[in-house]
Parts: sequence; C-alpha cells; structure tokens
Amino acid sequence: MTALLVRNLAQLATPSDARPPLRGAALGDVRVLHDAYVLCREGNVEEFGRMSELGSIAGEVEELDGRGLCAVPGLVDCHTHPAFGGDRVEEFSLRAGGASYEELHAAGGGILSTVRATRALDADGLRARVEQQAGWMLAHGTTTWEGKSGYGLDRDTELASLRAIRAAGGTPTWLGAHSVPPEFDNGDAYLDFALAEVLPDAAQVATAADVFLERGAFDAVQARRYLEACRDAGLALRLHGDQFTESGAIPLALELGARSVDHLEATGADGTKALANSDVTGVLLPASALFLDRPMPPARALVDAGSAVALATDFNPGSSFTTSLPLVCSLACTQLHLSPAEALAAVTVNAAHVLGCADDRGRIAPGLRADLVLLAAPDWRYLAYDLAGDIVAAVIRDGAVAYRR
Ligand code: NIG
Ligand code: FE
Repeated sequence: MTALLVRNLAQLATPSDARPPLRGAALGDVRVLHDAYVLCREGNVEEFGRMSELGSIAGEVEELDGRGLCAVPGLVDCHTHPAFGGDRVEEFSLRAGGASYEELHAAGGGILSTVRATRALDADGLRARVEQQAGWMLAHGTTTWEGKSGYGLDRDTELASLRAIRAAGGTPTWLGAHSVPPEFDNGDAYLDFALAEVLPDAAQVATAADVFLERGAFDAVQARRYLEACRDAGLALRLHGDQFTESGAIPLALELGARSVDHLEATGADGTKALANSDVTGVLLPASALFLDRPMPPARALVDAGSAVALATDFNPGSSFTTSLPLVCSLACTQLHLSPAEALAAVTVNAAHVLGCADDRGRIAPGLRADLVLLAAPDWRYLAYDLAGDIVAAVIRDGAVAYRR
C-alpha cells in the first residue's frame, strides 16, 4: 500500500498523551510542532516530526503539500442523532416567534413529529439520509461519529436506524428511551415493549444505550430500569441528563458506571462536584444550548473541579441542526470559556474515550489511526477562532484523503 506523506505543514497540534480521559492540566496540554510532516502507512501514522528531521522514506510514497495548513487529529463527534426523516424548520420558525421547545414537545410536536416523519421512511430512505449527513460531518472534519436511534420508537424503525448508522460508518447507540410514542399510554408500558421486543436485536447492532431522563420524557426510576436491562445485554451506558431540570441523571450515571452524561445545562454545584470526582465524562453540547436559547452548561466549573469533558454537536433536527465540530469549538471558547487546547482535547481524545476507542484514535501518534484534519489556517487555534468559517481544507481518514474542499 502506498504511504501518504503530508509535508511542510505550518503546524501540527495534538492533545497530551496522558491516559484518557484527559482532565485538569492535561486537558489543556497540547503539543504543537512547527514546520512539520506526518507519514501515514496502512491506515496508521508511522511517524511525524519537524521537516528538518525528515529522513528518506522506503517504498512508494504519495505526497501532499501542507504549506499554509495545520494538522489536528480527525475530529470525533460522540453525540449525534442522524437517523431521522423530515425536518423541523416549521417548528424553528415558531420558536423564533416565542414558542418554547418544551411546550411544542408537550403538544405532540417536537421529537414526536420527527418520529412520524422517520416512520414514514423505508430502510433505504433512512440509509440515504444518514449517508448524506455523514458526508456533511466529514466535510467539517469529523472522522469518527456516534449516531443514536430514537426517532423510530417501534421495532422496525429503531433497528433500521441502528443499521443505517452502522452502514454509514457510524457507531450506533440505541436511544430506545427518547420519548413515549403515541401508541403507548405511559413510559412503563412503552419500556415493557422496548425491552422485551427491541433490546435483544438492538444489542446486536448498537454498542451503547442512551435515555432521555427529563420531565416529559423518562423519570429516574424508568431510566434505571432501561439502563440496567441494556447493561445486562452488554451495552455501554449514556444519559441525556440535566438538560432542563436536574432529575437525578448524574447520581444514576455514577451508580451504574455510565460512560457519559450529556447536556448538563441545568447542572448545579452538587452535580458538578459529583461528576468531577467520577469516571463519568460530561459531554457538553453548546450548539444545542445556543439553538434553543438555553443557558450554557457550567463547563468552566466542571473542568476546574477536575471533570473529564467532551464536546459534541448533538446534531438533530429539533435542538441542534449543525454537524460542525469546529463551530462547537468556537462556542466552547466563547460561551463555555474553555481554551482552544481544552476544546481540541474535548473533540478528539476525550470524545473517543466516550466511544470506547481512545486506544486507537483521538491523537496524532505513531501506531494510531491516520485520521487527520488539515485546516486552512496559519495557526491550529483557528479551529475555534474561525467562527463558522470554511476552515477544513482536507480530511485524511485511515491514511487516505477522504475529503478535499
Ligand atoms: O439531545 N433532548 C433530547 N433529545 C435531543 C433532541 C431531540 C429533538 O428535539 O428532536 C437532544 O437535544
Ligand atoms: Fe442529544
């Protein structure tokens, strides 16, 4: 296989090689090389260094001129909802006029309107949507992504969603407890069905399970029942928690050894302290808070208290219609008061940790996957500095150019 040499890079930036998840000082410890190269072979990084140290390379080599570009690790989006039909542009307009997200949800709009549109798609239609959106992610520098089901909420559509995510190259999470669909009277009756009829097959495709623990969705007792059953079926655990109210997501996540609690816009001082003293990663979704005009999560307090944090888009049609992790990095710096270095670690190595794949990606290092983003910028911090700009010049995935602007 031909090797790929990216040469003359203005900068190469990679997070600390401390053991993931990074927290405290290690979270903000980025290694920057000027005038750098990266050599990729057979899908992995073979070596990287300063141009002045580049020796001769054995075998056939394809070269890519990195002049004027900066390399960072391929971005990892650890929280997206890409398996859906239709859109929510009408609801977006209503919200612009003052309607609230929770009111629309309670009136049968919101998530349930997307459930109707998703059920109307067949498996091919769902696959086409997920593939299209995976292309958007790649163009923003995302080389690894998680995708949740949760807009089917019946057996066939949930399984088709998980398969569509896997077929498009994503890591599927079964969000079987996203909302109570209209054919069930209450959450308990729906969970009876989902755990008996969907979980056994979902667990064959998904790697994790997720629940929306919130007023109007599932309560802590129901979330515990769902997560325990999913854990027993071999799935890693995630929670949507503290988005609007503190409803017990953090204590439950800690008790069950979940990989992450995601959202945290409503988390207070006790929750911040508990999460910081745990192995559960806090996944921050500032694009979702911005899109819904909600308070931002207490990111600085979490990081200062020692919490492991990751950042993600929360891409979905209702609360965060963006696939751009560079935009999320900008919001992390301007709204969450993280440094560009902390943001970089949170969208690479720590996000990979949430997905259980930090052993082979999330940093630029010999032996790790050759997943790289080449930024059209003289300094790697443009990743966050360039607010919603067209910053991604090229994406290398598995040692090959997968996208070029
Ligand atoms: O993470 N909060 C729950 N689920 C999604 C939004 C779903 C939707 O509005 O369609 C989220 O924000
Ligand atoms: Fe979400």
